[in-house]
Amino acid sequence: LRYIWLDCDPGHDDAFMIMLATHTPGFKVLGISTVAGNQTVDKTTDNALRVLESIGLGGKIDVVKGAAVPLVRASMICPEIHGESGLDCITPLPHSKHSAITDKPAVQVMYERIKSCYHEQTKQKKVTIVATGCLTNVALLFSVYPQVKSMVDISILGGAIAMGNMTPAAEFNILIDPEAAHIVFESGVQLTMVPLDVSHKALVTDQVVEQIRCIDKESGFIETCVNLLQFFKSTYRDLFNMPDAPLHDPLAMAYLINPSIFTIQLMRVDIETQGHCVGRTVCDVFNFEKKKPKNIHVATDILVPAFWNLLVSALTSCNKS
Ligand code: BDR
Ligand code: CA
Repeated sequence: LRYIWLDCDPGHDDAFMIMLATHTPGFKVLGISTVAGNQTVDKTTDNALRVLESIGLGGKIDVVKGAAVPLVRASMICPEIHGESGLDCITPLPHSKHSAITDKPAVQVMYERIKSCYHEQTKQKKVTIVATGCLTNVALLFSVYPQVKSMVDISILGGAIAMGNMTPAAEFNILIDPEAAHIVFESGVQLTMVPLDVSHKALVTDQVVEQIRCIDKESGFIETCVNLLQFFKSTYRDLFNMPDAPLHDPLAMAYLINPSIFTIQLMRVDIETQGHCVGRTVCDVFNFEKKKPKNIHVATDILVPAFWNLLVSALTSCNKS
C-alpha cells in the first residue's frame, strides 16, 4: 500500500485527480489539503468536501484548509476556466455534511499525518505528496518542518517545457506562487513534474466523454462527471479556442499508478521568479547547465489511451461506492 497526501485547488481537473487517487487499488489517501488557485481557498475547500461526498467518502478522508494567499504575492484565481464556484456544472455536486479542519494550520496537520505514517511503515517507504495546485502549502510545510523532507517525495502537475497557459512563459500553478515553487524545486526532495506539454495530450475529446458516459448511462454520478467535463470543455473553447480541454491534474496521480505509461527525463529545472518570464519552469532539456545538478524528473510524453483507461476504471469504482 502506498501512502499519499493530496494538495489541490478543486477545480474540475483536481476533482478527477481526487477520484483517481481515492479509487485506485494500492493507494491510501492520508488527507487532502486545499489551496487558493482555481478559486478562493474557501471555495476549493468546499469543492474538495463535495467531491468526497459524491464518491461516498464524506467524513472518511480529512480535508484541511490551507493557504489563502501565495507566500509573497497577491492572489490570482481562475473563474474563467472553473466558474464562480470553482467547480461549475449544470448538475452541481452535493453539499457535504462534513467540514474541513480549520483549527490547526494545514502544514501542522500534514506534518503530523505524514510523520506518523512514515514511522508506521518503519521509515521504509516515503509518503508521496500529489500536488495539483500552486505549491504554497508544500513550501510552507518544508519551511516550517524541514525534517519532513526526508519522509516524502512529490508528484506535481505544473510547469511547462514549452508554452505557458497564463502567459506565454508560465503555467498557472507555478505562476501564481513562483516563490513557493522555487522553494519546493530547490528542496532536494525527489520531484516529478508533469508539465503542460504532456497534459495537453490528455484531451477530453468527444470520444473520451462518450467512454465515460458509457460507464453507466443511468447513473447520476456519471452524468455529473460528464457535465463537469462538458463545462471544462466549454471554457477551454471560449478562452483558448481549443475544441477539447486538457484534463491536467489526474496525470500527476497516473504517474504514481503506472509510471511506465510516461516518458521521463531527469533534468535541471529552475523557476523564474522575476521579470517578463516570471513563473517559467526553465527546463534544461539539452543539459547546457553542466554545473548545476539535475533536480527534477520531467514527464515528456504519455500513452494517452492507457491514461484514460486508468481514469475510467477509477470512475467505475467511484460509481459503485
Ligand atoms: C493547472 O491549472 C489549474 O487551473 C488546473 O486545475 C491545473 O492544476 C493547469 O495549468
Ligand atoms: Ca489544479
